[in-house]
Amino acid sequence: MIDKLTASVGTALDRFIQQKQEQFPYATGELSQLLRDIALASKIINREINRAGLAGIEGGAGSSNVQGEAQQKLDMIADVRFTRALSKGGETCGIVSEEMDDIIDTGNHHAKYIVTMDPLDGSSNIDVNVVVGTIFSIYRRRSPIGRPPTKEDMLQQGTEQIAAGYVLYGSSTMLVYSTGYGVNGFTYEPSLGEYFLSHPDMKCNDDGNIFSINEGGYKTFPEGLKEYIEMCKEREYSARYIGSLVGDFHRNLLKGGIYIYPSTSKYKKGKLRLLYECNALAFLAEQSGGVATNGYQRILELKPTELHERTPLYVGSKKMVEEAMKCLKQYE
Ligand code: AHG
Ligand code: MN
Ligand code: MN
Ligand code: MN
Repeated sequence: MIDKLTASVGTALDRFIQQKQEQFPYATGELSQLLRDIALASKIINREINRAGLAGIEGGAGSSNVQGEAQQKLDMIADVRFTRALSKGGETCGIVSEEMDDIIDTGNHHAKYIVTMDPLDGSSNIDVNVVVGTIFSIYRRRSPIGRPPTKEDMLQQGTEQIAAGYVLYGSSTMLVYSTGYGVNGFTYEPSLGEYFLSHPDMKCNDDGNIFSINEGGYKTFPEGLKEYIEMCKEREYSARYIGSLVGDFHRNLLKGGIYIYPSTSKYKKGKLRLLYECNALAFLAEQSGGVATNGYQRILELKPTELHERTPLYVGSKKMVEEAMKCLKQYE
């Protein structure tokens, strides 16, 4: 029995990235290196999170970000670690981070890629030892090589993503990503310091019976959404909400379900950020057979106008998202 359980360790991430690169004879290896840089940064964050309580790096940093959210110490640590790894790695010319007001110029003006990132997602869950994550998107720069990155490089629509993914720091740490040819999940083996393929070709079920939403704002939800939620309850679906987008998305990807962050009176345009939360997860949802919309339009086709803009998000199993959209449409 134990042999059966341990015999299934998959390909190491480095090898997997190399194998994928070899399938494209003209690939230069720059994207592969960038993915390795992200994996390395995630291992460092993983270490910091695991010892947060001992190292005294839980709790607030006493500052707030451009959206007025109180920053946690680990938000700042994750931001610095990722920025440093991407800058030193050399393949990224510019970064948009949740924690920084403006574009970060890495100084690598000859690099081809830009990265948008939520260095630590669900940071209010750190102090209570609940799952948190990192989210990233990779785009090809628009501006000429050799110059500093521009805002136009950053404001690309989600359909232009070259790759996207997330890291989940949970009961085990996982890296899930896509380069546009399906979604693959890797589990971190801390004693070896390496990720191994554990979830090849992940598929989101067409239908599900989990709905994930913070119902605290119910009274100010759009009428159609209230109707959809009542429908979920009539069918006795399971309500599951962690409050860490990465964790909620990951569960629904594995089990089938819908995650919703709608517009509320507190967050008129929703709470989640298009550039470094919604686009990446929408890319992964579509790559695994799911759907991601703002309730009316495909997330990946929204044209961003600001670095930190927000959008409502309805993401997950195809049938569930389509049904929720149908409910909203009645009140248009
Ligand atoms: P972040 O920690 O990166 O600022 O993201 C917080 C987001 C997301 O992780 C989560 O799904 C959502 O905020 C939870 O919001 P509510 O507490 O309003 O439910
Ligand atoms: Mn935040
Ligand atoms: Mn987040
Ligand atoms: Mn964050």
